[in-house]
Amino acid sequence: MGWRDWVRTAEIEPSLYAADFARLGEEVEHLLNAGARVFHFDVGDGHFVEPITMGPVVLKSIAPMIHRAGGVIDCHLMVDNPDHHLQQIRDAGGDSVTFHVEASAEPWNTIRRARDLDLGVGVAFNPETEVEVAVEASLGADLALCMSIHPGYSGQEFLPDTLWRIRRLRQELPSSLFVQVDGGITAENAADVRKVGADLIVAGSAIFGMEDLPRAYKRLVKALE
Ligand code: DX5
Ligand code: ZN
Repeated sequence: MGWRDWVRTAEIEPSLYAADFARLGEEVEHLLNAGARVFHFDVGDGHFVEPITMGPVVLKSIAPMIHRAGGVIDCHLMVDNPDHHLQQIRDAGGDSVTFHVEASAEPWNTIRRARDLDLGVGVAFNPETEVEVAVEASLGADLALCMSIHPGYSGQEFLPDTLWRIRRLRQELPSSLFVQVDGGITAENAADVRKVGADLIVAGSAIFGMEDLPRAYKRLVKALE
């Protein structure tokens, strides 16, 4: 099993970083019932990004319920030295890891290490990183993640330059790789990122910031149709 089996044409990925952590299991369950199957899990180390976000302990508590429902957990590693964390993420129930090209000296090596652990793998790049750098680093991965905000916090505004960056990324990547976008996604811009080539669309506050989570998730899914 891998990304080709996990993606139903395109996916809205709820970003758990924006969840209410006192009710995490309950919120995941509501989203599973609404049809969400790919969950985005942000690991931030306080070095590569300012905040410490969440890690293997939280992952371990929610992985069983997601897996039982046939879902997967896509871990976004906003950390220095990503290689160091791969085994722990795997052991805690992560299904895929996306590391930052800015944080890996040898991306091809990080990709190989992730594959050796039977993890899906992606390469993320920040708004100030050239698209070409990301393309070269991600050959051999399952996906490339175009950041549409500066990583670190949920609830930031979508950077408009992202649209041509995604288009460029889609043109230059082999069709075997998925294109993912993360940050500032709303029900209004989801269709735009889809149109320029994004397959995997991460949404934090556009889901968890709403009163009715299933409704917010379904509205985003509908926006992609
Ligand atoms: C932030 C994270 C994102 C974040 C997205 O650095 O990588 O996944 O949760 O949140 P929104 O959708 O609110 O921008
Ligand atoms: Zn993320």
